[in-house]
Amino acid sequence: MNRRMFVTTALGAIAVTASGSRSAMAEELEYKMALELEQQTGGQAAPKKELAPMPAKPTLVDFFNLRFTTSNHCLQSATRALKNGFPEETILACLLHDTVLTMIKPDHGHWGENLYAPYVPEKISWAIKYHQALRFYPDPANGYEYPEMYIRMFGKDYKPEPYLEEEYKFAKAHKWYMEARMITMNDEYSFDPKAKPTIDPFLDIIGKHFKQPKEGLGWDNSPSAHMWRTIINPNRPL
Ligand SMILES: [Fe+2]
Ligand SMILES: [Fe+2]
Repeated sequence: MNRRMFVTTALGAIAVTASGSRSAMAEELEYKMALELEQQTGGQAAPKKELAPMPAKPTLVDFFNLRFTTSNHCLQSATRALKNGFPEETILACLLHDTVLTMIKPDHGHWGENLYAPYVPEKISWAIKYHQALRFYPDPANGYEYPEMYIRMFGKDYKPEPYLEEEYKFAKAHKWYMEARMITMNDEYSFDPKAKPTIDPFLDIIGKHFKQPKEGLGWDNSPSAHMWRTIINPNRPL
């Protein structure tokens, strides 16, 4: 049976359905926080906002401006990374890390990797995949503490499911570990309801490191083109 619980966040009390695994609840909470932020700041998820038509050849920036329901949170993460002097590829990874939540919630790291792999250097899509597991594992030496909110939600004794533990161990031993860890370092504090970040400071980085297809995202026959089309037309019946 489903049970609803309310978690107090910087954005107010957020209802989370307490069914399934606790890591799935963490995912739901992350999405709801990003969505709540977007609603409070008047972004794409604002109530009653009709989806605007997309250009015939949509770019990544068009998705930020017209579709992504987690734009504000992702822009805040990238802004933190920029201010803290992280490398450009890390800034792009932070910018993209939760955008796939617009389309699907469970396993958003994996789906995010699928969505971006055709368009970014491999270590960026790899980092997007593994940030999902790394959120549950503190790394104080690199400035990542276990999120306080998970303790409040799940209790002190919570252990992530075995698959997340395996992914964490794999990522920890990998040469790109820090790429994924840097996403989590900029993630946790990026839910400020007063922040109004824009895409403008990132246009140059996107231009340099994101392979924008000339046909437009969704129409370029890449392995993830169908995912872009789903984001363009989420209610298309057939
Ligand atoms: Fe995430
Ligand atoms: Fe995030």
